[in-house]
Amino acid sequence: MSTLNHRNNMNALELINNLPKAELHLHIEGTFEPELMFAIAERNGIKLPYKSVQELRDLYQFNNLQEFLDIYYQGVNVLQTKQDYYDLTWAYLEKIKADNVVHTEIMFDPQSHTDRGVKLEVVISGICDALKDAEEQLGISSYLIFSLLRHLSEEDCLTALEQAVPYKDKFIAIGLDSSELGHPPEKFTNLYKKAEALGLLKTAHAGEEGPAEYVWNAIDVLGVDRIDHGNRCLDDEKLVDYVVEKGLTLTVCPLSNLKLRVVKDLQQHPIKTMLQKGLKATVNSDDPAYFGGYINDNFKAITEALDLSGEEVVQLIKNSFSGSFLPDSQKELHITKINELIA
Ligand code: ADE
Ligand code: ZN
Repeated sequence: MSTLNHRNNMNALELINNLPKAELHLHIEGTFEPELMFAIAERNGIKLPYKSVQELRDLYQFNNLQEFLDIYYQGVNVLQTKQDYYDLTWAYLEKIKADNVVHTEIMFDPQSHTDRGVKLEVVISGICDALKDAEEQLGISSYLIFSLLRHLSEEDCLTALEQAVPYKDKFIAIGLDSSELGHPPEKFTNLYKKAEALGLLKTAHAGEEGPAEYVWNAIDVLGVDRIDHGNRCLDDEKLVDYVVEKGLTLTVCPLSNLKLRVVKDLQQHPIKTMLQKGLKATVNSDDPAYFGGYINDNFKAITEALDLSGEEVVQLIKNSFSGSFLPDSQKELHITKINELIA
């Protein structure tokens, strides 16, 4: 790892530990640690199909996105009450406090709860109560992103969004996740039009397993304000130029990419190249309970694998604020604070 490569002598590792940062790509259902899953299953009288925490953890070996999603949706089934959603969210917030995260933009998959009969009100109020407590007790600000499941039909997603209208002030954007291949952005043209009419911002997973064409269409057809993942941008030089010109942020997830075999090893991870090409890459944990680490673990792993300099680490951290959905005045405050800390 690089050492002593920053002005005030903080090395890359110290910068990662000490600088405040934002997380922009996080699925709250993906923070469900096996210990908490077993505890919640027991209090809800649900029998999990695994004998122990260890047996469940041993299953976390994935060959692709779909193998992960099958286990992830199974875990979600345990969540039923407002307290369950509160506990899940609070556990994540306590974890990121230790990583010096001061702002987080959290996705949740409403359909994975409402399709089992859990009321949207229960899900949203449990999550939002924890977010409010985190603002007051941990000094962490947050936004919520209403993320639609792309393996379902556009009609299903439109119905879900319709049900969310009474709660629309609780979230800042819509997202699009789940199985990417075979479910291109253009399948959701009307959904994104509807979100825009509701005054919501827009993000979508694109170019994780899907081709560069999916990134083009997330931008040109859906009109996204941010791209989740975006790794496959690098397959297409014209697309790289286009994303740079538009100033769109990519929410990159290194340990997720490794666990889901989007990259063979972290030495081949594209994030350093992204920065060199002028893309606004950020570091995020995606589904940390499943992929072996929270945000600082991601920063450390990628810094070590790619020998990132202190300047590159600082750039990634500044990008996390400039690419957030915070108002410009708040972005500036966070970036000024970083400049003071590294001066
Ligand atoms: N849902 C949770 N994590 C995801 C990921 N990495 N890609 C697509 N959908 C997801
Ligand atoms: Zn994701």
